Amino acid sequence: MNFKELLAELLKNIDISQEFIDENLTVCAEKNLGDFSLPCFKLAKQLRLSPVVIANESVKKLEQNKPEWLDEISAVNGYINFKINHGFAASTVLPCVKERGREWKAKESNGKTVCIDYSSVNIAKPFHIGHLLTTVIGGSLYRIFSFLGYKTVGINHLGDWGTQFGKLICAYLKWGEGKKADDLTMAELSKLYVRFHSEAEKDEKLNDEGRFWFKKIEDGDATALSIFESFKKITLREVDKIYKMLGITFDSYNGESFYNDKMQPIIDDLKAKGLLVESDGAQIVDLSEYGMPPCLILRSDGASLYATRDLAAAVYRHNTYDFDQCLYVVAYQQDLHFKQVFKVLELMGYDWAKRCKHVAFGMVSLENGGSLSTRTGNVVLLEDVLNTSIKQAYEIIDKKNPDLEAKEQTARDVGIGAVVFGALTNARIKDMVFSFEKALNFDGETAPYLQYTHARCCSLLSKIQYSGNNIDFSVLSDPYSFEVVMLLSAFDETVETAALKYEPSCISKYLIDLAQSFNRFYLNNRISGEESRISDARLFLTECVCNTLYNGLKLLLINAPERM
Ligand code: ARG
Repeated sequence: MNFKELLAELLKNIDISQEFIDENLTVCAEKNLGDFSLPCFKLAKQLRLSPVVIANESVKKLEQNKPEWLDEISAVNGYINFKINHGFAASTVLPCVKERGREWKAKESNGKTVCIDYSSVNIAKPFHIGHLLTTVIGGSLYRIFSFLGYKTVGINHLGDWGTQFGKLICAYLKWGEGKKADDLTMAELSKLYVRFHSEAEKDEKLNDEGRFWFKKIEDGDATALSIFESFKKITLREVDKIYKMLGITFDSYNGESFYNDKMQPIIDDLKAKGLLVESDGAQIVDLSEYGMPPCLILRSDGASLYATRDLAAAVYRHNTYDFDQCLYVVAYQQDLHFKQVFKVLELMGYDWAKRCKHVAFGMVSLENGGSLSTRTGNVVLLEDVLNTSIKQAYEIIDKKNPDLEAKEQTARDVGIGAVVFGALTNARIKDMVFSFEKALNFDGETAPYLQYTHARCCSLLSKIQYSGNNIDFSVLSDPYSFEVVMLLSAFDETVETAALKYEPSCISKYLIDLAQSFNRFYLNNRISGEESRISDARLFLTECVCNTLYNGLKLLLINAPERM
C-alpha cells in the first residue's frame, strides 16, 4: 500500500497530473499541519492563478467527496495539506507485512533472468580485502533480484587463464619439494609465485620454462592440466570458506579458461563484419570514433586477451540464459574495459549489448591497515578481516550479555554482519575506509544496531502474551506509530529502487530509518502493562518491524539472531 499513489489517484479527479504529483508531493515537515503536502507554486503560471487561490479552490473541490482514509484536507499559504487517518493506514499496511512473514525470495517468477558476474576471483591469488565489495555487492544484488521475482544466475568468472599459471607450474615442479599439488596451501602457492619472480630476475631462462608450461596447458597436456586443476581446487577451497561465512553461492564457475574454444567464432564474426583491423601485428577493433583506445582482440603472437574472453562470455551468457540484464560487479578501474567490450558487442549488431551493465564500485582500505596480521606479504586477507571482526564482536557480546546461550554463533553473525554492512552502507562508487570500531558500534548506523533492534523485537514478542487477531488499529494513531507504518509501507519500493540503481545501500539506509523510528516508537509507547487491546496492536506493529528488519538484513547477506 502506497499512500502517495492513493493521493495521486484522488488528485487526478481535480486534474492535477501524475507527473506534477510525482515531482512535488512531499512528506509534510510540520506534523500538526498534515502528513503530506503539495505546494501549488509551480501550477500558478500554467493556471494563471495565485498558488493560494489554487490551493483553496482545490481543497474545496476535494472536500466534496473526501475518502474515509483522509482525516483532513487543508489549504495553507499555497500548500494543500493532507492528514491521513492513521488507524486506517495501519489497518491497510500492517496485515500485508505480517502476511509476508520472513521471506526474501519471491514466490512467483516475473519471467526475467538477470546474470550477475561477481566476486570473480583469480586462481592462486590471495582473496584480499579488495574483493570485499564485488563479493558483497554482487551477493546482495543476487538476493535483491531474487526477492523481486527474477531468475538470478550468479557467475564467478574465474581468472584462470594466463602465462602466470605456466610459471606457477614451473615453480611447483622445481621447489614444491615433492608435495602433492592438491595438498598445497594458498600461502605456499603465493610463496612459489614470489620465488619464481625473484629467481627469474637472476635467471632469464626461467621465463622460457614458464612459457613452455603455459603452452602445455594450452595444448591440453595431461600433467600440466592436472597440476593446474589442483591450483584451482586449492583456491576455490579457500574462497569457499569465505563464501560460506557470507552465505554466498554461485550458479556457475565458468571462468576465463571456459571460453578457450568459444573465441574463434567471435573472431570470425568480427572479421566477417569488417570490424577487425591489424595494428603492429595485433588484431584490434578501432574505437577511436567513440573516443576510446582500440579494443585488443589478439596479440601479435596470436594469444587472446581479457577482452576477447569477455566478448565470448557475453555471447555465451546471452545464448545460454537469454538474460534481461547482465551485470558485471567489478571495480571502477575496469570502466574502460567494459565500455570497450559493450561497444564492440553493439558494433557486432547485438542489440542486447545495452542490457549489459557495469556495476562499478570504489576502493576499500582499512583504517589501521597495518595493525592487522597478514599471512601473505602486505595484502590484507578478507578472512583475517572477518575473523578479527568476529573476535571483537565476541568480546563486546561477552561484556554486554555474559549469559547469552549461543555466544559463538551470535558473535559470528554480528562480526560478519558488521563488515558486510560497512561495505554496503555507502553509495557503492565511493571509496571507503573500514573501521572496526565504527562498524561494531551498537549505537551507530551499523549492522549490530539493526540486529540489536531486531533482537529487541523478538524478545518483546516472546515475553508478552499477544493474540495477533482482531487488532484495533486505531490504537496506532500516534505520530510515532504512524511513522513506523509509513516506513513499513515503503519496503517494497525501496527494494525496487535498490535493484533499479544496483545499490544495496538504499536498503541499508532504509533499515536504519526503520530501526530508529521503531526505537522512538518504543520509547514513547508502553507495551507491557497496558490493556491487551493496546498491547496487541503495538505488538502487531512490533512483529511487522521484526520481520521487515529480518528480511531487509537478509537482502544484505546479514543474519539476524533472535537474542543478543
Ligand atoms: N578476475 C577479474 C579481476 O580480478 C575480474 C573479472 C570480472 N568479470 C569479468 N567478466 N571481466 O580483475
